[in-house]
Amino acid sequence: MLKTIIIFALFATFSYANEIVNVYSHRHYEVDKQLYKKFEQQSGIEVNLIKASSAELIKRIEKEGAYTKADVLLTTDVGMLELARSKGIFQSIDSKFLNETIPLHLKDKENSWFGLTKRARVITYNLDAISKEELTNYEALTEPKYKNRVVITKSNEVYNQSLLASFIVQNGEERALMWAKKMKENMARKPTGVDKDSLRAVAAGIGDVAVVNTYYIGQMKNEKNSSDKEAADLIGVFFPNQGANERGTHINVSGAGVVKESKNRANAIKFIEFLASVEAQEEFSAVNFEYPVNEKAKVSDLLLSWGSFKEDTTSLYEIGTKNSNAVKIFHQVGWDE
Ligand SMILES: [Fe+2]
Repeated sequence: MLKTIIIFALFATFSYANEIVNVYSHRHYEVDKQLYKKFEQQSGIEVNLIKASSAELIKRIEKEGAYTKADVLLTTDVGMLELARSKGIFQSIDSKFLNETIPLHLKDKENSWFGLTKRARVITYNLDAISKEELTNYEALTEPKYKNRVVITKSNEVYNQSLLASFIVQNGEERALMWAKKMKENMARKPTGVDKDSLRAVAAGIGDVAVVNTYYIGQMKNEKNSSDKEAADLIGVFFPNQGANERGTHINVSGAGVVKESKNRANAIKFIEFLASVEAQEEFSAVNFEYPVNEKAKVSDLLLSWGSFKEDTTSLYEIGTKNSNAVKIFHQVGWDE
């Protein structure tokens, strides 16, 4: 009996051995594992996952060159997608489904990478310390009344780099520099930790406002047994820059591209198409609280409870190309010091 079980288990393991897709991913969320399983079941293509930081994965694919096993690079933030593109790691792909599904401002103009989930970088606030009515836009966080009240992560956080890069695209380098300089002056503490630490700090009263990506609030609110859930309940979500003449709230994407030297190109395309499907998009939203890029997908109840908002539709490709200018400005103003 045991022998039969072992043989069956081996058979099950190797049953899709002919069809694989090797995914190098920086994404660190539970929902991805669930989706890969679904993709394997539906397509018969085995997902072989290698996880590391975006910078490490990009370096690795570069070094492996023609011998790389990578078929798909999946990462967060357009800064990283653009870095990969500029290193020549991706190939342009022609997928009718992706072309029709992903809005223009959420993909590379040559179709070498595609945004697969959206995240808004919003202003969150301590409900006891601030009323929503007083909040307006990112620029206002530099006003003297917010002195020692603003919490945000370090400048090596690519989410901040893209936010500042979006200011450069919109308003030019000089104004972007002034914003960064004044934000630094208003910080409640030296930048530290990740977005969740910023939220914890605002809940604890270390600061009153924090700039964070939306899904972290969702994750904390849905924590089963921890103080994070209580912390998240003390925090409000505000979508900045919503005025009629304003550009909208900065958004970013998590996205993917097919690696230039991919040996399983067709499987790689199928994999990315699956992640853009309504089924996968709704799961990204329901389980990881990200916004779908596929307009046919439903947005999760928690996200709906925060209300709809106008998003900045500045091309992410353009924002990505200003990444190094943003990094330079952060150094110039001593953001982390
Ligand atoms: Fe993240």
